[in-house]
Amino acid sequence: MSLATKTEFKAEAIKPKIGSRVLNTREDLLSGEFAAEIRELLEARGVLVFPQVSFTDEEQVAFTKTLGTFAPERKGGEEVISKITLDARENPMAAEYLKGSLYWHIDGTRNDVPILASLLSCRVPSPRGTGNTGFANTYAAFDDLPDDKKAEYEQYRVVHGPWASLFYYEAEPSLAKLQGYAQIGEQELPLVWKHKSGRKSLVIGCTAAQVVGKSALESAMIIHGLREWATGEEFTYSHEWEVGDLVMWDNTGTMHRAEAYDPTCGRMMHRTKLEGEEPFE
Ligand code: OGA
Ligand code: MN
Repeated sequence: MSLATKTEFKAEAIKPKIGSRVLNTREDLLSGEFAAEIRELLEARGVLVFPQVSFTDEEQVAFTKTLGTFAPERKGGEEVISKITLDARENPMAAEYLKGSLYWHIDGTRNDVPILASLLSCRVPSPRGTGNTGFANTYAAFDDLPDDKKAEYEQYRVVHGPWASLFYYEAEPSLAKLQGYAQIGEQELPLVWKHKSGRKSLVIGCTAAQVVGKSALESAMIIHGLREWATGEEFTYSHEWEVGDLVMWDNTGTMHRAEAYDPTCGRMMHRTKLEGEEPFE
């Protein structure tokens, strides 16, 4: 009789409406054995935390590849892991654009097919009480709206652009800077994403500039009112980082943001991504 038993997938909920911790070992995760369970749990829970799993860069890339199509940071480029830091000494351009990551957002609202998921691992945490990453479940936030509001919001389309997020961190930009951001482009997206699965999620965040057909004030009330609703206590989880933690989020059903930290404190995160599998619709 063989004593070999199959390792079980081990996970526990963090909050009722968002987040689970996955407790399997590094080796089990790298084997790819639980890829289907991880993908299913990710969609159900929005955010998965792998506490102190301490992957090397190579292991993070390998783990990412077990879960879907690896999305390189630069298409065809050499770079595989992106370094996420606000420290301009590391990468001045990236640090500029990452200022927007301090506000609630969805990654890739410029693309028809946004990335499916991001995996962020902590190399150097910021001092305690700073630099958490916050997550909000935009499926749950939509589901809990009253029916008349759901029906109203499903009608709306919203123009998104990185230029809109510029005003969150720079109140009076030069025209040249605004033109630079404008060149990155704009994209009209539904306010409510009707997924192939039949589930629906809100598409909001700091890239949302204007609700089509509404005045600036009406737009702001809709966009900011929904942001306030979706980032309320019950839909959100704030992750306090330990070295070696890996956190993965469903970019199609959550918003996220970095909570404020000193850009020169040394905080360093390494990110990999999974290619999107469905357009905003
Ligand atoms: C990102 C991001 C948040 C953080 O990598 O897309 O928004 O906490 N990161 O660094
Ligand atoms: Mn982001």
